[in-house]
Amino acid sequence: MKKIVILTGAGISAESGIQTFRGSGGLWEGHDVMEVASPEGWHKNPELVLNFYNLRRKAAAKAEPNAAHLALVELEAHYQTQVITQNVDDLHERAGSSSIMHLHGMLRNVRSSADPSLIYNYGDREIQMGDTCELGSQLRPDVVWFGEAVPMIEPAVALSREADIFIVIGTSMAVYPAASLIHYVPADAPKFLVDPNRPDIGPINNLQIIQKPATTGVRELVDQLIQQANA
Ligand code: APR
Repeated sequence: MKKIVILTGAGISAESGIQTFRGSGGLWEGHDVMEVASPEGWHKNPELVLNFYNLRRKAAAKAEPNAAHLALVELEAHYQTQVITQNVDDLHERAGSSSIMHLHGMLRNVRSSADPSLIYNYGDREIQMGDTCELGSQLRPDVVWFGEAVPMIEPAVALSREADIFIVIGTSMAVYPAASLIHYVPADAPKFLVDPNRPDIGPINNLQIIQKPATTGVRELVDQLIQQANA
C-alpha cells in the first residue's frame, strides 16, 4: 500500500464550528494570542489562560467531526494513512482515523507545569487554579504555545520524508516548524492542498491546489485518490 501523510490545520475543523486562529484580525475569541497561548501569558495571568482553554475544551467537546474528517478515514482501506494535525481538538479521533499525531498537543489533556512528561486525560472537565499534578505543581493545558518547542516534530519529519502522497488541509502554513514538513516530502511525490484561500508557501514541486472548503474539497480529493488506488 502507498503511504499518504495528511497535515491538517484549523481550517479542517472550521465547518464543525471551531474558529480558526488567523481569521479575525489577529484576535482569538477576542484575545491577543500571546495573552492566552504563550508562556509569558501563562506567567502573567494563569487564571485567564485556564478559563480561555476551559471554554475551548467545552466548544471542542460539543463540535462534531465534519464530512472532511470522515472522508479521510475512507482512505485507510486503500492507503497506509497517517494524519499529522496541528489541531488540539479530537475530531480526527472521533471521525475514526486510526493513526493521528498531534503536533501541538490536545485540549482534552492537561499536564504538569513542572514536568512536561506528566500528562493526564481531563476529558472536557475544567482545569482550575489549585489543580495539581502528583508533584504538587499547577496543571496547565497540554498544548504547545507560541515560543515553545514542538516535541513531535522529529517523528513528523520522518513520516513526511516517507510519504508517497502528501495532503495539506486548512492551514495558513504560517507557523513553523509544522509548515516546513512539506519541504521534507520527496520532490516527485504528488502533493495536494485543500483550502479556500491559497496560503503563501512559495514554489513546491508537484503541488495541486484545490481551492475549496474542506468538506467539499477533501471529498473530491478522496474520491480521486480511491479511484487511483483501484485503477
Ligand atoms: N476549509 C478549509 N480551510 C479553511 C476553511 C475551510 N472551511 N476555512 C478556513 N480555512 C483555512 C484558512 O484559509 C487558513 O488558511 O484554514 C487556515 C487556517 O489558518 P490558521 O488560522 O492560521 O490555523 P493553522 O494554520 O492551523 O494555525 C497553525 O498556529 O496558533 C497556532 O498552534 C496554533 O496549531 C495552530 C497553528
